[in-house]
Formats: sequence, C-alpha cells, structure tokens
Amino acid sequence: MSLSFLRLSIVFTSLVTAYPAVNVVQRWSPSSGPESISPSKTPAIWSQTSLVFPPDLESLESLYSVPSYQTIPPATASSSYVAYATSTASIPIVPATDLHADADPSTAQRNISNAYQPNSSNFVTNPTYATFSNFDFQSIALAVHQEYIELDLFNYGLAHFSDADFDQAGINAENRELIRFMAQQEIGHAYVLSNMLGPAAPKMCSYRYPFHDVRSFIDFCQVLTRWGESGVYGFLQLLDNRAVAQILLQSITVEARQLYTFRQFEGLFPMPEWFETGLPQTWTWTLLHNWIVSCPPENQPLAWEIYPRLVVDNQPNAIIAGILAGGPAISHNVSAFSYPGRVTCFSWDPVGLIEGPYHQQTVTYTAGVPRFAAFVSQYNVTYSPLYDVDLERRTAKAKQPDGHVFGLGSDLLLNGTQFVVLTDTCTNYTPANLSLINTHIVAGPAIFQAG
Ligand SMILES: *[C@@H]1O[C@H](CO)[C@@H](O)[C@H](O)[C@H]1NC(C)=O
Ligand SMILES: *[C@@H]1O[C@H](CO)[C@@H](O)[C@H](O)[C@H]1NC(C)=O
Ligand SMILES: *[C@@H]1O[C@H](CO)[C@@H](O)[C@H](O)[C@H]1NC(C)=O
Ligand SMILES: *[C@@H]1O[C@H](CO)[C@@H](O)[C@H](O)[C@H]1NC(C)=O
Ligand SMILES: *[C@@H]1O[C@H](CO)[C@@H](O)[C@H](O)[C@H]1NC(C)=O
Ligand SMILES: *[C@@H]1O[C@H](CO)[C@@H](O)[C@H](O)[C@H]1NC(C)=O
Repeated sequence: MSLSFLRLSIVFTSLVTAYPAVNVVQRWSPSSGPESISPSKTPAIWSQTSLVFPPDLESLESLYSVPSYQTIPPATASSSYVAYATSTASIPIVPATDLHADADPSTAQRNISNAYQPNSSNFVTNPTYATFSNFDFQSIALAVHQEYIELDLFNYGLAHFSDADFDQAGINAENRELIRFMAQQEIGHAYVLSNMLGPAAPKMCSYRYPFHDVRSFIDFCQVLTRWGESGVYGFLQLLDNRAVAQILLQSITVEARQLYTFRQFEGLFPMPEWFETGLPQTWTWTLLHNWIVSCPPENQPLAWEIYPRLVVDNQPNAIIAGILAGGPAISHNVSAFSYPGRVTCFSWDPVGLIEGPYHQQTVTYTAGVPRFAAFVSQYNVTYSPLYDVDLERRTAKAKQPDGHVFGLGSDLLLNGTQFVVLTDTCTNYTPANLSLINTHIVAGPAIFQAG
C-alpha cells in the first residue's frame, strides 16, 4: 500500500488514551418483555467443550489430510460453451464518454481481440486517497466518528468487566483476545480514514453506553457494528473518489466480520439475511450521535442531519433469545424473535430538540404527522400503516409486515438487526435512491431487532 495517503502523521496516543468515564444514559433499551421470545428452548448453561491437549497430531493428520489441489484435473470445456469473443464479434466498442444511465450495457467497452482485457471507465492509473469533495469529506468524517466509538467501546468493555464476568457470560480468554484485536483493527481504520481527511479529520470524542453487564455489552456491540456496516454501504457507491471507497470497503468488510462475531458471542444466528442493508449518512448519525457525549472543540461539526429520536417500546429481546439458545456458539438455530403481524409500539421525540456533540437541532421536512412505519431490511423498504396514532403523546402502533426478499420460499424480509423509520408517505425506494426517503421521515431510524 502506497504511503502517499498516509501523509498525515497521526499521534497514536490520542487514539489509545484512557477510556473516559461513562454515564449510563439509557434511551435505547435492548430489553422488553419475554413475550416475543420463542419458548421452545430451555435455558442452557454455556459450557466449554473440553479439549484434549496436546492433541494427537499424527492421528489428526491422517483423519484430515490436506487435499492436493494440484492433482485435480483441469476442467475441459464442454461443447455447449460459446466463446465470448465469437458471440460478440459484431458489437462495436462504446467509448466510456458515451456511457450514461440509458446506455445498453451489453455494448459497453467490448473488444474482440484476443489481447483485450475489459477496462472500467472509472479506472484511475495514479489514484489519490484523499477526499476531494465535500460529500466525500463528510461521509468519511462520519465513518471516522464510527470507528472511534468502536475503538473506545471494545476497549471499554474489556476494561470495565472482569475476566470472571466475561467467563460467566461464556466469553472466555481467547474470545476476549478477539475483542481486543477488533479494537486494534479500529485503530487501523481510524488512522487510514483520518489520513484521507488530512488535518481537519475529527478527533476522538467521549462516549456513554447503555449496557450494565457483559451480555448487554456484547448486544450493544452487535447493534452498533450493524449500523456501522450498513451506514457505509449506503454511500459507498456515491463517493466521488472511488479510490477512497476502495479503502473504506476494505475496512468495512472487517467490520462486517466483527458484527458477525458479536452475534455469535450473543448466541444468535450469525447472518439471517440474504442482503445487508445500506443506510443514508443521516440515519447513521441519528443512531450514533446519541452515544457521543462531547467532542474536542477543534472538531468541525458534521454536516449530517439528525431526525427526531424514535424508540421501539417493545423491542424484541436479543439477549434473552441468545441465552435461551445456549449462549455463545458458531451458530444456534435461533428463529426470529419477532414475527409478521406482531404489534410494534413506537414513541418519538418532538422535532427541534438540540442533540449530539455538535448541538444540532433535529429536523423533519414533514408536517410531523407519521402515517407509516417503514421497515428497512435486506434491500427492501416495507411499509406498515400506523394506527392508534397519538400526536400529543407521540405514540403509534404498526403490525410487523410480512414478506420475503423474492417472494414465498425466499428469505423472510425481517430477520436479524434491522431499521425502522416513521414516514408520511409510502413511496417506493430501491437501495441506490433510499436517501430520497429522508424528506419524508417524521422520526427515526430506530434499530428493530427482528432476529
Ligand atoms: C482492442 O484491444 C486491443 C488490446 O488492448 C487493442 O490493441 C485494440 O486497439 C482494441 N481495439 C479497439 C477497436 O479499440
Ligand atoms: C486497459 O487498461 C490498460 C492499463 O491502463 C491499458 O494498457 C489498455 O490499453 C487498456 N485497454 C483498452 C482496451 O482500453
Ligand atoms: C433449524 O431451523 C430450520 C428452519 O429454520 C429447520 O428446518 C431445521 O430442522 C432446524 N435444525 C435444527 C437442528 O434445529
Ligand atoms: C430467521 O433466520 C433464521 C436463520 O436463517 C431462521 O432459522 C429462522 O427461521 C428465521 N425466522 C423466520 C421467522 O423466518
Ligand atoms: C422486496 O424486493 C424484491 C426485489 O425488488 C421484490 O421482489 C419483493 O416483492 C420485495 N418485497 C416486499 C415485501 O416489498
Ligand atoms: C427509486 O428507484 C426506483 C427504481 O429503482 C423507482 O421505481 C422509484 O420510483 C424511485 N423512487 C423515487 C422516490 O424516485
């Protein structure tokens, strides 16, 4: 990796300083009644499988001999194979400059000579890894805020709870080492993203957390990395500098693995969805700002809006579901702990409150009257009409929608850690234009813990 984008020398000590005192201010509550929990499993105490040590390596080797991939005969082309060059012989090359949204993609950048390697019209020979538009700057600055809280959070959890606390929750010393390594990954991510921003990169803030024990720490990590991951997928394809997007992608795939691991530590099914959701930046900031107490005065405020806070008052309880399933494991067959038709109860804040470390006023572009709960999962927005709407107390209910990604037989739309906003319309959006929904948000997003 070239050093050119590491031009700013970050003072590492500022990344790894002592963990600020934490005031537990609880708004997002992971728990609700056990009403939503599948009662089909009885509680089990997590116990470590005892390993014979040292293992008998010789007998293991004979059991699990490594196949030699060299000896596998090469596949022979079947007669039905039609050479690409033959099938496209008459298609002329379309210059990159002629490519636009309505271009026929089958004619783009084709070349039939044997030496031809397809080229992207976005390819840059000598890329720079600095942000060069405000959109990119603000998006990466948001990502830096996210990486910093993860760095703080993982280390804080490790420092705050004793080894015995962790052991009791089924998180053994080796598991803790993995969490410790995840914190180090965050140093790397904060470092490289800060360098893309240069001297104006935001510095680390101080944070507060809603957890009180190891299990709720793990659950919070699972939720926070969920919006960290989805938050980046929402804008990655829109970045003006695709070289910046490349490095960001290579960090966010690590974050996706962190989320996966935290779900495993919680005893949940690690990935019940077929597609991970992408979120607009404002959604990430609306979810994230709540846990940031204050930032250094030299930090530039983030440009992203904050919408009125939305609370799912009867949030399905992932912690209990994980315990009932048997605690930490590679995977448990945990079924979704909410279900289509379940009544979801919402409450929300009025618009105009001052929120977040940069003292922003929350906004809405609506008349403040919500009509739909928009559940955003996989790559769908699925609306459920609100009822029992009480505009004075700002509460409403909606039935959890049904639906499958590709219709019956495919994955259930709502499973895993998902998102919900209250809107005034039920307009259709697809992943690449989801940010257009922002002007219809009355409150939210909130996390919706479907499975
Ligand atoms: C096709 O690709 C080859 C190898 O890159 C190049 O020499 C040739 O000029 C290309 N043909 C056209 C029509 O661009
Ligand atoms: C594709 O890109 C490579 C590297 O920049 C260049 O050498 C080659 O000529 C390009 N080919 C075409 C068909 O544009
Ligand atoms: C796991 O759940 C699936 C359905 O989601 C079911 O078909 C399967 O039998 C279950 N397996 C076990 C071992 O519980
Ligand atoms: C949620 O996903 C898990 C894992 O795929 C699956 O076992 C479960 O049946 C799903 N829940 C529902 C309600 O489909
Ligand atoms: C989810 O999106 C897929 C693909 O666009 C579509 O076929 C499906 O009907 C959508 N499901 C719902 C419930 O909107
Ligand atoms: C978003 O894009 C889809 C097509 O991908 C389109 O049907 C829909 O109307 C668009 N939404 C808006 C608000 O323009």
